[in-house]
Amino acid sequence: MRAGDARVLVTGASGGIGQASVEALLRAGAAVLLSGRAPEKLAVVAQDLRQRTGAAAGRVAWHAADLTRAADVAALARGAERFDVDVVVHAAGMPAFGRLESAAAGDLERLLATNLLAPMQLTRELLPHLRHRPRAQVVFVGSALGRLGLPGFSAYSASKFGLRGFAEALRRELADSRVRVQYLGPRSTRTGFNDTAVEAYNRHTGTAMDGVATVRRSPCA
Ligand SMILES: NC(=O)c1ccc[n+]([C@@H]2O[C@H](COP(=O)([O-])OP(=O)(O)OC[C@H]3O[C@@H](n4cnc5c(N)ncnc54)[C@H](OP(=O)(O)O)[C@@H]3O)[C@@H](O)[C@H]2O)c1
Repeated sequence: MRAGDARVLVTGASGGIGQASVEALLRAGAAVLLSGRAPEKLAVVAQDLRQRTGAAAGRVAWHAADLTRAADVAALARGAERFDVDVVVHAAGMPAFGRLESAAAGDLERLLATNLLAPMQLTRELLPHLRHRPRAQVVFVGSALGRLGLPGFSAYSASKFGLRGFAEALRRELADSRVRVQYLGPRSTRTGFNDTAVEAYNRHTGTAMDGVATVRRSPCA
């Protein structure tokens, strides 16, 4: 698919990787529906990206949704259908770093709801629509920690290992359809995602951090 023909839903569009992806898509001529939790933030991000890329107003829209809420996921899916999306980029996610016993039960539930259950549910909601699009794609933004378990990241890794398994199985499940499934596993990236504890961990362990431009150019698996 040429990006210029694409109509794309990007979740996590108010975040570092999501915004960089939206900007690249708009510059390539795509129409993008941005999603995040806060309407005010999305309106500002959408306006800023419109100005920086020169995209016509009709090519940039937004829909606020808290992806831990089933009703918001369903409403976002209906909004994406009305926008006539071909491509869904699941970039929303939340971090978790620290010893497992220091996490509250609710923290684990919110983490799995955001990083694993929400992309599964949103994809399930949108598949009937995507199956009718000639060149549909679903892109999951996972993590290098979805392949490698490191101390302090047990819960986060569980969410991203799960997402990678889901993407791999779904790709095979949809092999006889026109829907392509891709999984991207970025390394640590300089956005607002990582707090000072993770940055200190990265320095201590010699873990390199990429800029968002590197992630934007990364090949998907
Ligand atoms: N940065 C890294 O080091 C790194 C490395 C590998 C993979 N990743 C993955 O890349 C993706 C994007 O990360 P990032 O670095 O761009 O993070 P970020 O700058 O913190 O952005 C996170 C995005 O997710 C959205 N989000 C969080 N919880 C949400 C919820 N409950 N409902 C809806 N939206 C929600 C945020 O929206 P709000 O505006 O509502 O907060 C924001 O748009 C994540 O899946 C992350 O796991 C990041």
